[in-house]
Amino acid sequence: MADTPQHLFYQLLLYCRAGFEKECASEIQLQAQHTNLQGYIKTKPDSGYVQYVLAEPLSAQELNKAISYQQLVFTRQCIFAGNIIKDLPVDDRITPLIEQIKSIGLQFNDLYLETPDTNDGKQMSGFCKKFFHPLIQNLKRQSLMNQASEWRLHIFFLSSSAIYIGIASIHNSAADHMGIIRLQMPRNAPSRSTLKLEEAFKTLLSEKEQQKYLRTGMTSVDLGASPGGWTWQMVQRNIKVIAIDNGNMDPAVMDSGLVVHQHADGFVYTPPEPVDWLLCDMVERPLHIARLIARWLVDGHCKHAVFNLKLPMKQRYQMVEDCRSLLETAMQQAGIRYEIRMKQLYHDREEITCIVIRH
Ligand SMILES: C[S@@+](CC[C@H](N)C(=O)[O-])C[C@H]1O[C@@H](n2cnc3c(N)ncnc32)[C@H](O)[C@@H]1O
Repeated sequence: MADTPQHLFYQLLLYCRAGFEKECASEIQLQAQHTNLQGYIKTKPDSGYVQYVLAEPLSAQELNKAISYQQLVFTRQCIFAGNIIKDLPVDDRITPLIEQIKSIGLQFNDLYLETPDTNDGKQMSGFCKKFFHPLIQNLKRQSLMNQASEWRLHIFFLSSSAIYIGIASIHNSAADHMGIIRLQMPRNAPSRSTLKLEEAFKTLLSEKEQQKYLRTGMTSVDLGASPGGWTWQMVQRNIKVIAIDNGNMDPAVMDSGLVVHQHADGFVYTPPEPVDWLLCDMVERPLHIARLIARWLVDGHCKHAVFNLKLPMKQRYQMVEDCRSLLETAMQQAGIRYEIRMKQLYHDREEITCIVIRH
């Protein structure tokens, strides 16, 4: 296999939550502008994906340099793809597919067979499961699979005969199938919101960062804590929590001995001592939350913060950018070295989750 294959890709395919195609399109257009990529958007409402069609086809290396998956908020996955392949013969889809895959000139670390995350897409998942085994066996026979490769092979099925073949660098893409992390609801956690915080830590922090920033003995405040799903995640990590909410906390979380519950207004409360983490899951206007988080960070009440921004019905992307800019301005004016990471998680609906890490 050539080290620097010259195969050219015609588009970026971006997967997103159905209904958020506009936001996904806006963010890829903005990123493309900053990196001088030329192209245009093709998308359908509620399709669960967006195409950014390149004015000129580019190599995987060029695209990888231009695109930063980490910076994208509404994009679950981003792959470099060819043109749509239609009319695959029903009696032998594999032979023509293998020919196309060979022409990319790369070996692959893994194979994902994916669909849009829509009801139509879900109907294809049985087909994808059945197709996976024969395809990967064939790829292995052709020496196209190699654990050491940086590249993952994605086949995106719109139907059993209309597909895109794409690739993604494992260093610049979501690690999970369809860009969706699979988490099991912990049996004794008090609310499903617990999955949101678990997903936030696993998605927005690397494993090394999780070890560094979520250590036994650390302290936190959870604003809007009831019934305790987020608090539960901290307790699992042996982190102390001051839980602020007029609502009740789950007795099992309180039994841990790590939680103090205070009936107070989350917009007024400040902790007696600075804490490592501020958690905030109060349902409020996003700019109001962003201002609160900025105040906690700037006044030194917390080192790091994780919070939700509930999005308005319209101008959702603009609102995210306004909140980001508010936080950035506050941190820069205070001379704080920080990093903001934002993502619409699988467990987020009309909202996104953000982490601010102070260095
Ligand atoms: C989405 S729920 C939080 C769920 C929680 N994170 C969990 O995992 O179980 C929002 C909570 O915010 C609380 N809340 C809303 N406004 C608040 C305020 N101003 N001060 C304190 N709590 C507030 C509500 O009482 C509600 O329990």
